[in-house]
Amino acid sequence: MISDKRMAIKFLLLVLFCTFVSGDSEARCMEREREALLTFKSGLIDEDGVLSSWRSDECCIWYGVVCSTATGHVITLKLNNAALRGKISSSLLELHRLDYLDLSGNDFGGIPISEFISSMKQLQHLHLSESNFSGIVPPQIGNLTNLRSLDLSYNSLSSASLFLLGSALGSLEILNLAHNQLDGLIPDLTAFSSLTELRLSGNNFTGSVRIGHLSKLRVLELSHNSLEGSVPRSIGQLSQLQVLGLSYNSLKGLVSESHLLKLDKLKALDLSFNSLMLDIASDWSPPFQLNTISLAGCNVGPYFPKWIRTQTNLSILDLRVAGITDEAPRWLWSSFPLLADLYLSDNQISGTVPNLSSTSILRMDLRYNRFSGPMPLFPSNASHIQLSGNMFSGSISSICKTRHDQLSFLLISNNQFAGELPDCWEKMPSLFSLNMANNSFSGKIPSSFGNLSNLISLQMRGNNLSGELPNNMRLCQNLSMVDVGGNKLTGEIPTWIGQIYNMRFLNLRGNKLHGSIPHEICNLTYIQVLDLSINNLSSMIPDCFSNFTVLASKTTKYLAPPTLAPIYFSLDNENKHYGYSSFQWKGQETEYRSNIGLLKLIDFSSNRLIGNIPESFSSMSGLKSLNLSRNGLTGYIIPDIGKMKMLDSLDLSQNELSGKIPTSLAEIPTLGFLDLSDNNLSGKIPTSTQLQSFNAPAYAGNGRLCGDPLPKCLVLRPSPTKPEENVNESLSFMQEVCISMTFGFIFGFWGVVGLFMLKKSWRLAFFNLLDTVGDWFYIKIALFVSKWIPS
Ligand SMILES: *[C@@H]1O[C@H](CO)[C@@H](O)[C@H](O)[C@H]1NC(C)=O
Ligand SMILES: *[C@@H]1O[C@H](CO)[C@@H](O)[C@H](O)[C@H]1NC(C)=O
Ligand SMILES: *[C@@H]1O[C@H](CO)[C@@H](O)[C@H](O)[C@H]1NC(C)=O
Ligand SMILES: *[C@@H]1O[C@H](CO)[C@@H](O)[C@H](O)[C@H]1NC(C)=O
Ligand SMILES: *[C@@H]1O[C@H](CO)[C@@H](O)[C@H](O)[C@H]1NC(C)=O
Ligand SMILES: *[C@@H]1O[C@H](CO)[C@@H](O)[C@H](O)[C@H]1NC(C)=O
Ligand SMILES: *[C@@H]1O[C@H](CO)[C@@H](O)[C@H](O)[C@H]1NC(C)=O
Ligand SMILES: *[C@@H]1O[C@H](CO)[C@@H](O)[C@H](O)[C@H]1NC(C)=O
Ligand SMILES: *[C@@H]1O[C@H](CO)[C@@H](O)[C@H](O)[C@H]1NC(C)=O
Ligand SMILES: *[C@@H]1O[C@H](CO)[C@@H](O)[C@H](O)[C@H]1NC(C)=O
Ligand SMILES: *[C@@H]1O[C@H](CO)[C@@H](O)[C@H](O)[C@H]1NC(C)=O
Ligand SMILES: *[C@@H]1O[C@H](CO)[C@@H](O)[C@H](O)[C@H]1NC(C)=O
Repeated sequence: MISDKRMAIKFLLLVLFCTFVSGDSEARCMEREREALLTFKSGLIDEDGVLSSWRSDECCIWYGVVCSTATGHVITLKLNNAALRGKISSSLLELHRLDYLDLSGNDFGGIPISEFISSMKQLQHLHLSESNFSGIVPPQIGNLTNLRSLDLSYNSLSSASLFLLGSALGSLEILNLAHNQLDGLIPDLTAFSSLTELRLSGNNFTGSVRIGHLSKLRVLELSHNSLEGSVPRSIGQLSQLQVLGLSYNSLKGLVSESHLLKLDKLKALDLSFNSLMLDIASDWSPPFQLNTISLAGCNVGPYFPKWIRTQTNLSILDLRVAGITDEAPRWLWSSFPLLADLYLSDNQISGTVPNLSSTSILRMDLRYNRFSGPMPLFPSNASHIQLSGNMFSGSISSICKTRHDQLSFLLISNNQFAGELPDCWEKMPSLFSLNMANNSFSGKIPSSFGNLSNLISLQMRGNNLSGELPNNMRLCQNLSMVDVGGNKLTGEIPTWIGQIYNMRFLNLRGNKLHGSIPHEICNLTYIQVLDLSINNLSSMIPDCFSNFTVLASKTTKYLAPPTLAPIYFSLDNENKHYGYSSFQWKGQETEYRSNIGLLKLIDFSSNRLIGNIPESFSSMSGLKSLNLSRNGLTGYIIPDIGKMKMLDSLDLSQNELSGKIPTSLAEIPTLGFLDLSDNNLSGKIPTSTQLQSFNAPAYAGNGRLCGDPLPKCLVLRPSPTKPEENVNESLSFMQEVCISMTFGFIFGFWGVVGLFMLKKSWRLAFFNLLDTVGDWFYIKIALFVSKWIPS
């Protein structure tokens, strides 16, 4: 027994010894390769010190380096997301056995991919995604005949077709060129018989899709290109397909059951935003169980597609703008136990929405349909609820039944909601954006709004709210937009407004506010739109407009308040987060889809303001529109008014301004609207192409004003002939033209703000998978598919 034990122990020790010895030998680094790695390191800038271990003799234990246990050669170099910059040295050519090279997620400063890489014939995996490469994809990459995965996504590379067409990449399994600047005809992909994943989305490939019998293909992602023609029937032969993404192209024609009949492994179908028409029988029973259906912008209607009911595993359903004119079927709300994202906006869907509190819905967009009935109860952890533009009615007090800790976007504008606003906002502490505009809410604004410390945008325009702005609102330090125009608010403009220093858009237009414009308003350095018009304000205008740095800036780039900068600037594309907004501009409601940074206006019209126009107005050289009309302002027009060089619209009509029109006014090249009528201005209208382009009504009703377009000034006049007698009175209708400017930002765009919260890695996973740029809701599928498709 004992000797047996001894034998066993001896054997064990022997095994351990051998392991140790062989372990030692397998870690031995080849001097030549070590030198090559050090040369490679010396070309790099390694600010985070990721390569600090690259010093010892033993290069096989260096960070990111893997050697072959059999030969000791370096076989893997994996330095992704290491914050490396600098140059990639051709010393890598010394690593003759390197088959895995991953330098993705670094910043190579826009240099081209070095040609020498195409001499590394042994490479099987080359990953250079999101590394700031530009220039052409070296066509010689086609020489890498052993390559199994090639990922060059998220760079600024151009013209890949050449290498794709002439390539010998017959062994490729994974090809990812998504999000570059590749253009030209999409190559015939029939030859890539070993492909399992093909991602070319986010480029500008043209032509029609030609897909042969790629029997191993699991992912086909061609979204966001300029592809034309129809969806080829051969897609129906891709029997292993799990992800099909063709969204945002110019594909036309029908997609029928026969396209989809054999795709029994399909999990994600994204055909959105083409010109496709779905030709699927309503009683079709599909072979697949989808997790994602995205048919936005396809012609799916007029009836709600019944076959969707069979997809009980659905987690994302996107049928926006799908031509559906139908009642929402009851099963829609009860058939999908995993449904997290439901997007039905911009259809003509009617019906009521049942109690959703026990569903799994987290994000729901029903905007611009014909839903009616009371506001449904939401699941307590829903984060985005968008009901705007329907016919929902009644009170919204049901929202108080549960806490909604995750709710960040509640958009219920343009409905027929009524009654008092609930006083339970402390139950929604995460709200970012709350839009209740254009309903029939009445009563006071409850004080629990003060608990919304994360609120950025509050829109309650066009209701019947009364009373004062609650004091507690001063606690909403992140507020950057407040639109309470068109209500019956009373009291004075609160002085605490000056503490909300993130304020950019403040609209108090059309209420019953009285008293003064508090000088605390001077604290709002980032203000961009200040609309206090149509109230009973009766003070002088505080002279502090030089404080307004955004209005002083001519840049049209949006300048975010510092505390909010992380939110705004973490989004990729400016236009996306500014989204759609509509406001009145020269009397017309205008939809404003691009940069909100352009919108810079001050409107104090239709109050009872007195005193002079403050000199400091002239420092707002970025201001686009100034309306001080219909007040009791006296004194002269400030001589430096011409310093407001960006001014497009100036209305000073119906005041008691006197003196001459300053010559500097003629120096505003952009001025497209001017109204100085009904004041006491005098003297000659300065001569410029600009000022004479306005018609006489712009100057009418000023006792002693003369010169083109009004009658000539009489240089020497023996008797005081009043010039206004010569003015055609019938033209004075223009005095009634009021530039009204309200702004009602339909904050679909705040939906995008949610994106900033997502981790970069999620964002990447998501783009890699479905590439529906800007649509945060696809995160779900990204996470889901990553379970299915090993990378
Ligand atoms: C790419 O490199 C250029 C040049 O160094 C730099 O200006 C740019 O910011 C970089 N882009 C990214 C996305 O890092
Ligand atoms: C490498 O590719 C280039 C261009 O595609 C080609 O002309 C050349 O013959 C190839 N060289 C080898 C060794 O395959
Ligand atoms: C994409 O290619 C088409 C056709 O070559 C061209 O008209 C279009 O301007 C390109 N679009 C972009 C964004 O480069
Ligand atoms: C539904 O999805 C889950 C993962 O979310 C998966 O495990 C399951 O197999 C799917 N069911 C069907 C019928 O596809
Ligand atoms: C809504 O549904 C939840 C969960 O099923 C239930 O507890 C609640 O009573 C329902 N509320 C109403 C008003 O029907
Ligand atoms: C949402 O709440 C439900 C139950 O109320 C829970 O099953 C689910 O996991 C929650 N989802 C998230 C994302 O928290
Ligand atoms: C307000 O809502 C009604 C429908 O409830 C709609 O007709 C009207 O156009 C909306 N007004 C604005 C300014 O959106
Ligand atoms: C809501 O705000 C009030 C006033 O500041 C405060 O007393 C109360 O504790 C807050 N409630 C919650 C739940 O945060
Ligand atoms: C305001 O926003 C910032 C930035 O997102 C955040 O850190 C902060 O918690 C928010 N709330 C308050 C009250 O400042
Ligand atoms: C607005 O509210 C007042 C009471 O504050 C009420 O008398 C009036 O009828 C309401 N108007 C509308 C249109 O709801
Ligand atoms: C002006 O803003 C600062 C913060 O920038 C704040 O400390 C101060 O109290 C504000 N002043 C007034 C009058 O609101
Ligand atoms: C704005 O102007 C007022 C008065 O002119 C001044 O007291 C205040 O310090 C200024 N505030 C900021 C933030 O510049």
